[in-house]
Formats: sequence, structure tokens, C-alpha cells
Amino acid sequence: MPEATGTSVPAFEAIGLTRSYRLDGGVLVDALRGVSLRIGQGEFAAIVGPSGSGKSTLMHLLGCLDRPTSGTLRVNGVDVATLDDARLADLRNRTIGFVFQSFHLLARTSALDNVALPLVYRGVSRAGRRERAKAALEAVGLGHRLTHRPSQMSGGEQQRVAIARALVGDPRVLLADEPTGNLDTRNGEEVMGLLERLNEGGVAVVLVTHDADVAARARRQIHVRDGRIERDT
Ligand SMILES: Nc1ncnc2c1ncn2[C@@H]1O[C@H](COP(=O)(O)OP(=O)(O)OP(=O)(O)O)[C@@H](O)[C@H]1O
Ligand SMILES: [Mg+2]
Repeated sequence: MPEATGTSVPAFEAIGLTRSYRLDGGVLVDALRGVSLRIGQGEFAAIVGPSGSGKSTLMHLLGCLDRPTSGTLRVNGVDVATLDDARLADLRNRTIGFVFQSFHLLARTSALDNVALPLVYRGVSRAGRRERAKAALEAVGLGHRLTHRPSQMSGGEQQRVAIARALVGDPRVLLADEPTGNLDTRNGEEVMGLLERLNEGGVAVVLVTHDADVAARARRQIHVRDGRIERDT
């Protein structure tokens, strides 16, 4: 697979991205109406905007969890349209960590096994998976909750398990949809500190937030409204 790894290649390059959803009745919802942007390696950017403006839709496209209806998206220089679903999943697994707005943890599975799961697809041994998952959980302050299932943890703890799962594969890019949305001030502060340390270590971080204080800590703010970028500062 052609993959550019030079530092000059942006992490993401989007040109005229659109995403329409078709409802059961056939009605089309234009969630994204032509988004062009470039996010460099190692950047720290916040995506902000009203509810329903298309932030999660954009994050899912950047995270290779979904494909655009039209437009071009290059991830680390690779045009996603040239990849079949298996290769797209592989690109995602190797380069992107994703924190979902609604966690997406497996309910009947311990924190440790939830975090270890992405490594299964990388061929890491069972012992190696557990060791790395434990280290990732310790990094988010959950070393004492390894065997708890999601229903046995607070919302903030579940949020941090989701972050540990996104980090366990050492991604070059971390995409986080409202990573502090369910946290109190102290836990939110801890998560932001964690994201800032990761970014200092060279990982590009793109987060969605409704919190002006969180957005202000990013070096760049991308304002989305009605499926378009309204302002990029
Ligand atoms: N699967 C879907 N089918 C149909 N419409 C959808 C679907 N997902 C999202 N939408 C619509 O697309 C628009 C953008 O949704 P999106 O989830 O990207 O918004 P958001 O900016 O993340 O909002 P929030 O801040 O509330 O999370 C909304 O109008 C939403 O109703
Ligand atoms: Mg959303």
C-alpha cells in the first residue's frame, strides 16, 4: 500500500468533503456540506460548533470509521477512496486512536480486555496485550480498576477506559469526540493534561468540545456550523 510517512505530509487533508445520510423514508440529511481542511502531524486542534452541526460526522470520516459521500480525504497522504474496507480498517488500526462520544465499550468485558482488544488485530501476543493494556489504564489513572466491567465504573472512569483503548496502539493521531463531556472539573483536567502530554510527545490530537475552556487549550479552533467550516483560527 502506498503510504507517505514524511513529516511534510499532513495527518489529514480533506477537500470538499460531504456526507449525506439517507433516512428510511428516502429523505436525505446533509450532515456535511463541503469541508476542506488540512491538519498537520503533531497538531492540537479543537472542533467546536452547535449540536447537530456535523462535528461527530466529520470525526468519523477523519477516523476512517465512515466514508464521505463526495470529496477527497487523505490520511497520512493516502486517499481513502483507493482503499477497500479491510485496508481502510488496517490504516485506522495502525495510525488512529478514536474516543467515541458514547464510549462504545463492551459491556460484559473487563476494563483490561476492553483496552487490549485493538491489539488483537495487530497480532500482539496475549501477554503483550495485557501488559500494554495495563500500562494504558495506569496512564489514565485506572490501575486500580483493571477487572471492573463498564457497568461497575463511573461515567468518568468509562470515559478514561475509552481513552486508554484509543492510546494502547501508540497512534500517530488521536481523535476524541467530547473526551471531557462526562467528566467533572478534576477528571476533565486530568484528561486534558493527558492529551497535552501526548501531543507534546508528537501525537496529533483533534478533539470535539462544547467547553470553551477546553477549546482554548488547543492551538487551533475549527468552528463548524450547518455542515461547513465557519471559522478556523
Ligand atoms: N445516522 C444518521 N442518519 C441520519 N442523520 C444523521 C445520522 N447521524 C447524524 N445525523 C444528522 O446529521 C447531523 C450532524 O450530526 P452529528 O452527529 O455530526 O452532529 P454533532 O455536531 O456531532 O452534534 P452533537 O454536538 O449533538 O454531538 C445532525 O442533523 C444529525 O441529526
Ligand atoms: Mg457529536
